[in-house]
This record gives sequence, structure tokens and C-alpha cells, in this order.
Amino acid sequence: MVKPISAVLFVCLGNICRSPLAEAILRQKAQTEGLSLDIDSAGTGSWHVGEPPCDYAIRVAKLHGLDIQHYRARQVSMKDAERFDLVIGLDDKNVSDLKAMGMSNVYKLGSFGLNGEDIPDPYFFDGFEGFETVFSMIDQCCSELIKFISAPKRLK
Ligand code: 4NP
Repeated sequence: MVKPISAVLFVCLGNICRSPLAEAILRQKAQTEGLSLDIDSAGTGSWHVGEPPCDYAIRVAKLHGLDIQHYRARQVSMKDAERFDLVIGLDDKNVSDLKAMGMSNVYKLGSFGLNGEDIPDPYFFDGFEGFETVFSMIDQCCSELIKFISAPKRLK
């Protein structure tokens, strides 16, 4: 029997741009679908622990009706492997860092809907535009992720 998925963690590098957006987007989709899910996000790095998401992430979220300004960054730990059924990295480096920590329930967000593409880090882009691009990539993947969670078939 397939264990139902009830908890999902998104992990990027800083936990101030991409993974908080993924957390908020999946939360909204789960609410729309009436799915009860424990959803959180974290970073592999510790530079921004305790900080809110970056200004552009807050702004792009707000433009799409999501409030993430109260989120606070935290660093991922092995305790998360117990709490979360899926630990989802935003890019290949996040995935390899999570596996190197010893996590086994690790997947890549781009495997859901983007043929395995990385979600690029907008922190290092110039300006706001990259955040819109990244928001729509994450949104597309989370739509597929919600379908998968509702009816799990296969994971790449
Ligand atoms: P994120 O972006 O991984 O999408 O949160 C980053 C934010 C900050 C840093 C790296 C990535 N940083 O090195 O400070």
C-alpha cells in the first residue's frame, strides 16, 4: 500500500527567495483542493536564518495574492527527514546537498512539470523580472505536485 503524502518540505539555498514562494504557492493550492498538508520550507545554508523573505519575493507573492512577509528562514536538518514525506529541492545543488546530509526522501521540484529543470536562483538576477519568471515556474510545478499528492503514481 502506498503511504499517503501528508507533509512536504521545500528546500533552496537561502530560504528567502524560492522555497518560501513554493511553500506559499503549494499551501494555497492545497487549500483550494481541500487537502490537509503540513507544508514548510528551509535552506541548506544558514546565512539568513531568522530573516523574512527578500523584498522581491514578498512583492511577487503579494502580486499573486499571497502573504509571506511573516515567514522566517531556517536551516534544514536531519530532523526534517522524519517529519516530511517529501523533501523537495529547488535545484540540483539543493538535491545533492540534501542527499549528502543523508536524506533519502529527496526529490526535485522541476521533476513535477518542468522536465527536471532547475528553478534558477533569482537572488543573483538583476531586478524584479526574474522573480516573476521563477514564480510562474514554481506555480506550474506545484500544480503538478498537487496532482501527484492527490493520486501518487510515480516519482522520478
Ligand atoms: P534562495 O536564494 O536560495 O532562493 O533563498 C538565495 C538567497 C540568498 C543567498 C543565496 C540564495 N545567499 O547566499 O545569501
